[in-house]
Amino acid sequence: MNGVAVHSALVCTETHNAICNIHNEATGKDLFISALNLYTSLNHQQVIMRMRLKLKTVFVLYFIVSLLGLIYALMQLGQRCDCRDHAMSKDQQISQLRGELQKLQEHIKTSELSKKTDVPRIYVITPTYARLVQKAELTRLSHTFLHVPQLHWIVVEDAPQPTSLVTDFLAASGLTYTHLYKRTPKDRKLQEGDPSWLKPRGAEQRNEGLRWLREMGAAAKGKEAAALEEAVVYFADDDNTYSLQLFEEMRYTYRVSVWPVGLVGGMKFERPVVEDGKVVRFHTGWRPNRPFPIDMAGFAVSLRLILTNPQARFDGDAQMGFLESSFLQHLVTMDDLEPKADLCTKVLVWHTRTEKPKMKREDALQKQGLGSDPDVEV
Ligand code: UGA
Ligand code: MN
Repeated sequence: MNGVAVHSALVCTETHNAICNIHNEATGKDLFISALNLYTSLNHQQVIMRMRLKLKTVFVLYFIVSLLGLIYALMQLGQRCDCRDHAMSKDQQISQLRGELQKLQEHIKTSELSKKTDVPRIYVITPTYARLVQKAELTRLSHTFLHVPQLHWIVVEDAPQPTSLVTDFLAASGLTYTHLYKRTPKDRKLQEGDPSWLKPRGAEQRNEGLRWLREMGAAAKGKEAAALEEAVVYFADDDNTYSLQLFEEMRYTYRVSVWPVGLVGGMKFERPVVEDGKVVRFHTGWRPNRPFPIDMAGFAVSLRLILTNPQARFDGDAQMGFLESSFLQHLVTMDDLEPKADLCTKVLVWHTRTEKPKMKREDALQKQGLGSDPDVEV
């Protein structure tokens, strides 16, 4: 066929199965051939050619990959091994294993607890206000709370009415919650540029949470009233960091339980100092003689105590550092405090503060009408 193809004039009457007349100039003869046969035969050759090409490519690739593997293996031969395990002394290994064991025990404790519904309820009151990081803070907080059994979150917005951001956020949170709001009056609110310590923050909102608890307490009957007798109240700001263990420490509180708070008051930690099981003073860098020199994150109060002392509330006009005392002094004396977290030797909560995000580029783009889409919730 090859010779024919080179020297022939191919004339087909129709495509496909038509008869073709091939005139071979070398022999001067005409050759009649089915077009389909010719087509199939040409195609067959093309397929063989392509397969050869593919096989060749596969071999080349295989060769390159093997070569790379070999080079990598040779390079590894020269590396130093991580021999820390061998170098570690027996004592170090024992203390490492002890640490792992403790972690596992804590894990078992919390996972067993998560199945329990008959443990005292924890009411957490959180004041919150609109700002760029609000949703991020609430997200972080809600993920902690989702791990805590029997937790009821009372979120109090510093706003004239509930915002859609917080409303939608809570509805999707998977937590048991109550959504309240109370605006801080203008004369009590920090203004742009004020130092953060100038006025107390969150006081009105915590009082609103207490009002709701007292109203609910007054209406409760039977089993629900009995459950409230055992419950505990904790004031959790929206920006702090809370370990899960903290909630198990506070869960059984008779009056007021206390523990250390990390990264607060210009110190690594502040804490109640415990002697013979009793709080005798406070380790703090500033005005240790305040009635209760303790951060909001460092105590929890039994709901029974709050319900039986309706006058106990936060003073929105309190001097700097006296907000916690303004509430606690209605409820207990130092002698009554119940030290938790291994007699106040462990830090289980941190007074973290989130940096205000810089919006220099956003502001510049907004001036050109190119700012981020305001319909996207952040
Ligand atoms: C410290 C304490 O940790 C707070 O518990 C205490 O309320 C505050 O000092 C104070 O002395 O008033 P700090 O980090 O300085 O906290 O306060 P923020 O975290 O800014 O505010 C405390 C809470 O109030 C937060 O949950 C925050 O969302 C809320 N807040 C703040 C408002 O509801 N409205 C505001 O205008 C500002
Ligand atoms: Mn804070």
